[in-house]
Amino acid sequence: MNPGLTTVSYIGAAILFILSLSGLSRQDTARRGNLYGAIGMGIAILATVFGAGVTSYAALIPAVLVGAAIGSVLAMRVEMTGMPELVAILHSFVGLAATLVGFASYLDPNAHFDSNAERAIHEIEVFVGVFIGAVTFTGSLIAFGKLRGSISGKPLTLPARHWLNLAGIVVALILGVSFVGTEAPQGALTQLLIMTGIALLLGVHLVMAIGGADMPVVVSMLNSYSGWAAAATGFMLNNDLLIVTGALVGSSGAILSYIMCRAMNRKFLAVILGGFGGAKASSAAAAGPQGDVTPISAEDVGQALTDAKEVIIVPGYGMAVAQAQGVVSEITKRLRAKGVTVRFAIHPVAGRLPGHMNVLLAEAKVPYDIVLEMDEINADFPNTDVVLVVGANDIVNPSAQDDPGSPIAGMPVLEVWKARTVVNFKRSMATGYAGVENPLFFKDNSRMLFGDAKKSVDAILAHIPAA
Ligand code: TAP
Repeated sequence: MNPGLTTVSYIGAAILFILSLSGLSRQDTARRGNLYGAIGMGIAILATVFGAGVTSYAALIPAVLVGAAIGSVLAMRVEMTGMPELVAILHSFVGLAATLVGFASYLDPNAHFDSNAERAIHEIEVFVGVFIGAVTFTGSLIAFGKLRGSISGKPLTLPARHWLNLAGIVVALILGVSFVGTEAPQGALTQLLIMTGIALLLGVHLVMAIGGADMPVVVSMLNSYSGWAAAATGFMLNNDLLIVTGALVGSSGAILSYIMCRAMNRKFLAVILGGFGGAKASSAAAAGPQGDVTPISAEDVGQALTDAKEVIIVPGYGMAVAQAQGVVSEITKRLRAKGVTVRFAIHPVAGRLPGHMNVLLAEAKVPYDIVLEMDEINADFPNTDVVLVVGANDIVNPSAQDDPGSPIAGMPVLEVWKARTVVNFKRSMATGYAGVENPLFFKDNSRMLFGDAKKSVDAILAHIPAA
């Protein structure tokens, strides 16, 4: 492919990526945004494979085919609830790739520089790229393990851990200064290797220190790191598209992390430095169950819903696990046909990844205009007859407001307890993701509908005849 055509393809792909991001920011254009992204990536891969940089297809074609096959099978098999794990492991690949490309481009025997300044710039690119790549690689592997539950969600809080991190960064900086100044490549390679070891440990330590409740922010932060690692790789390889794409991923990941921190009332720096989401024993959690709960039958829930004027449904992780969204949508349809106002309240971190609930509800054909964000609907709970909390826990936990000692203190929550009646769908009295007790279940206006959420909504539907 001639270089002009490659450049045009790269520009086209970069424009499609920007259109993709803008499409993905709204539900009704998300499908189109996704399509733009896929077409852009297709063009980028073709332009790279047939570009001037490729000299032999013997290794490349099998690698592309194997990669595409593994990617397709994984993407088809993954459940929505397993998506954050998949995203985390994919970030680790980006980190590993940036590290390997950094070493390869440093050791490239054909590398030629016109001036010392050019060489120095290249060495800085290599050093920074390998550093970010190595932190992203091990950090993402640990995040993957924590999300799967193979590594404990409890934060690892070593004594003087902030000093350890700082010492790692300072040593890496000193190594960087001497790496860039060293003439003999063999000598400098030692510095690069030692820094890589430090960065790998730093990635492990940074994410190990972060507790369960902060994992969503960590995944999006690693997303941002993987973008910057890709951008650094783009500089090393002189690939403009990789620079643009990396910068898009890096900055959108950073913005998303910021939005999520705001939704959880957490300071970004406090999240990154870790130690939250399990370390502090909340006074409510320590006290254990606080009184008796009142169970309710599916028949009574059906009756209450039919008698209600205003209903709000709060979906959570349990609805996703039970795959109850289709029946929830059917219940909504029947109630609306009877003149009941039904709306959905979406907490920004409901479920296990940003937008999780919106995707499930859209899939179940719930109209967009009755799906509201927390800020749009939180003031309406006092005027609501029935709230159905379908498999949600932390996001409706009043101790976030009432118990300053709670690990989720200060996290904005949906104030469901202000409604006339709240029905909680759960299988047991187990805690939610953050591992804290929920006083909501013990309130006078709270009712428990125990069992798998899909079976519960099926049973309720049977008591709401179609109009
Ligand atoms: P959780 O607090 O995890 O609560 C889920 C609830 O669903 C639990 O009470 C569980 O109780 C119930 N449940 C599970 N399977 C069920 C089933 N088959 N049928 C009925 N109930 C079922 O979820 P949430 O309220 O959506 O809060 C989200 C949490 O995840 C927050 O702590 C958030 O920080 C964290 N998180 C969010 C994200 C993002 S970005 N959304 C990413 C990672 C983590 P039982 O076990 O008793 O049934």
